[in-house]
Amino acid sequence: MISYKLGLEYINWSELFNLYEKVGLLRRFIENREFDKIQSAFQKSCKVVTAWDGEKLVGSCRMLSDSICYGAVFNVGVLPEYQKKSVGKGMMNLLLKGEENITIHLTSTFGNEDFYKKLGFKKHKTAYSKYPFESKYVED
Ligand SMILES: CC(C)(COP(=O)(O)OP(=O)(O)OC[C@H]1O[C@@H](n2cnc3c(N)ncnc32)[C@H](O)[C@@H]1OP(=O)(O)O)[C@@H](O)C(=O)NCCC(=O)NCCS
Repeated sequence: MISYKLGLEYINWSELFNLYEKVGLLRRFIENREFDKIQSAFQKSCKVVTAWDGEKLVGSCRMLSDSICYGAVFNVGVLPEYQKKSVGKGMMNLLLKGEENITIHLTSTFGNEDFYKKLGFKKHKTAYSKYPFESKYVED
């Protein structure tokens, strides 16, 4: 059975970095072996939710938020062998709990848009993003 945890205290950081390497997120930092930066980013996040199969980390996601007006969700990842088993949904439900009155932004990776649609997210008509590198997610 999968369990979900809020907070950082149970996280073994190398297991978390391995998870993101396997799901292909945080690629820029992982390729540059900037694991200390990933750890700092998670420590500075408002909420981190992880999914566990016993003592094995199988999923993770995080939110930046002021808890009053706005929040943003990042780095939603589930190990490939645990995908399509409701683990992502379980993590997101815990991450979004208590945030019903704030506006929440996120960017889906290509092909996963319906995962967010099923959680109640809607496509934004005028969202703009600024990346510090070339990104396939934005138009000119
Ligand atoms: C996207 C991701 C987090 C989804 O997690 P998951 O555990 O596989 O998703 P769940 O099993 O909880 O799916 C919940 C619902 O969304 C649907 N769904 C999940 N991924 C989907 C996809 N790519 N396309 C269409 N529907 C999808 C499921 O079928 C399920 O539908 P249901 O509630 O009607 O049964 C996971 O596939 C992943 O880690 N992908 C690689 C990393 C990534 O790209 N993450 C997204 C970052 S924005």
